[in-house]
Amino acid sequence: MKYLSNKVAVITGGGSGLGRELALCCAARGMKLVLGDVDEAGLSETLRLVEERQPAMESAKLKVDVSRMEDVEALAQLAKDRFGAAHVVFNNAGVAVNGPIWENTPADWHWVMGVNVYGVSWGIRAFVPMMLEQGEGHVVNTASAAGWVNAPGSGVYNASKHAVVAISETLALDLRDVGANVGVSVLCPAFFPTGIVDSERNRPKDLAETAPDTETKKLRQEQLRQAVEKGRISAAEIAEATVQAVENDQFYVFPHKKVKALVAARAQAVERETDPFDTLSGR
Ligand SMILES: NC(=O)c1ccc[n+]([C@@H]2O[C@H](COP(=O)([O-])OP(=O)(O)OC[C@H]3O[C@@H](n4cnc5c(N)ncnc54)[C@H](O)[C@@H]3O)[C@@H](O)[C@H]2O)c1
Repeated sequence: MKYLSNKVAVITGGGSGLGRELALCCAARGMKLVLGDVDEAGLSETLRLVEERQPAMESAKLKVDVSRMEDVEALAQLAKDRFGAAHVVFNNAGVAVNGPIWENTPADWHWVMGVNVYGVSWGIRAFVPMMLEQGEGHVVNTASAAGWVNAPGSGVYNASKHAVVAISETLALDLRDVGANVGVSVLCPAFFPTGIVDSERNRPKDLAETAPDTETKKLRQEQLRQAVEKGRISAAEIAEATVQAVENDQFYVFPHKKVKALVAARAQAVERETDPFDTLSGR
C-alpha cells in the first residue's frame, strides 16, 4: 500500500514497545490510529506521545484482550464506526514465557498461544473480510526470529512464533488464490529493547500457574533480559522498517540481517539430518 496518508492503522499491543513505535510511525505518515491493548494506561501514554508530535492526528482506543475473539471483533467495529475502514492491521500484541518445555504448564501454553497465535488469527478473522469488502488492505503479523530458529528454554514462545509465520504465509497464498488486493507482511526481528521480558505483568490471574523457578529457568530468563536490553536495533527503527515494508508490499521483514544467516544455517542442519540446530551454541 504505497500511500498511507489518511488511511486507518489498527495496532494491537499499542500500549508499549514496538506497538507504540508503530503508532508514532503511522501517525507521522498522516494515518488515523485505532489502538488496542490490555494495558489502558499504556494506550493513553502512547496517544499522548503521538499527539505531542502530531496534534491533528485522529485516533480511537479500546481495552482489548486479543486472545478473545469478541474483543478483537469489538476493535474492528470501533474502526468501522469511527473511521469507516481499516487499511493496515498490525497484529502485534505478544507475550513470552520461558522454562524447559517439559516444565511449562497448561496455563503457560494457554496464555502464550492465546495471545500470540489466537490473537493473530482473530485479527485476520475480524479485519480481512473488511479489507476484501473495501477492495484494499494490508495485514502485518509480528512473528520473531523465534519463528524460524529455536533457542533453548523458550519452547512455548518458539512454537507460537512458528505458528505466526505459518499463518502469515498461508494467508498470503489464500489471498492470492482469490485475487485480493490485500498485502501481507510477517515481521521477524531478533531481540530489541522493549517490555517483552516483563510479559508476566499482563498475565491473567486464572492462568497464573507457571513452570517452577529452577536455576536453569532463572539463568535463561536473565540471558533473555540481557539479550533484549542489549538489542542494537531500536523498536523505533524496527517500526520504521515495518511501515516501509507495508509501503513496498514486502512479505518477509528481517530487520536484523544476521537472522537470515541463522535460517540458512538451520536449513544446512536439516540437510545433515544429525543434531537439532541450536541458535545460541557457539555464538
Ligand atoms: N522485544 C523483542 O526482543 C522481540 C523480538 C521479536 C519479536 N517480538 C514481538 O514483538 C511484539 C511486541 O512486543 P514488544 O517487544 O513491544 O513487548 P512489550 O511487552 O513492550 O509490548 C507488548 C504489548 O502487548 C500488550 N499485550 C499483552 N497481552 C495482551 C493481550 N492479551 N491483549 C492485548 N494486548 C496485550 C502489552 O500490554 C504490551 O503493551 C510481540 O509480538 C513480541 O513477541 C519482540
